[in-house]
Amino acid sequence: MSTTHTITLASTREQFECREGETVLKAMSRLGRKGIPEGCYSGGCGVCEIRITAGQCRRGKMSREHITVEAEQAGAALACRVFPESDLTIEVTGKLHRNIHRGAPTFAELLLARSSSR
Ligand code: FES
Repeated sequence: MSTTHTITLASTREQFECREGETVLKAMSRLGRKGIPEGCYSGGCGVCEIRITAGQCRRGKMSREHITVEAEQAGAALACRVFPESDLTIEVTGKLHRNIHRGAPTFAELLLARSSSR
């Protein structure tokens, strides 16, 4: 049985599952949004910048051109190099922000969906 962790987007409270050993970016790609970067997945291009606001994770090697030591200490990371070890709450920043939020339900829509499913 594989373990999964729940990733929450802080801005919309939208959630998706990330399997053990899978990167946040790979799991995020299952949201099906246009413009989620494909190709690099190696911490080199910097398009998948996020900020981790809660939870534990393991981080692979990331380009210091995109994530400085100070930024990393403040929670910044590249989603393609983040392997969750618990549920995470993240903010999508930089170039990825517009793409991941395009077509996303608003916070109000999520609340409405939750209340109508009860
Ligand atoms: S996809 Fe290039 S750094 Fe993450």
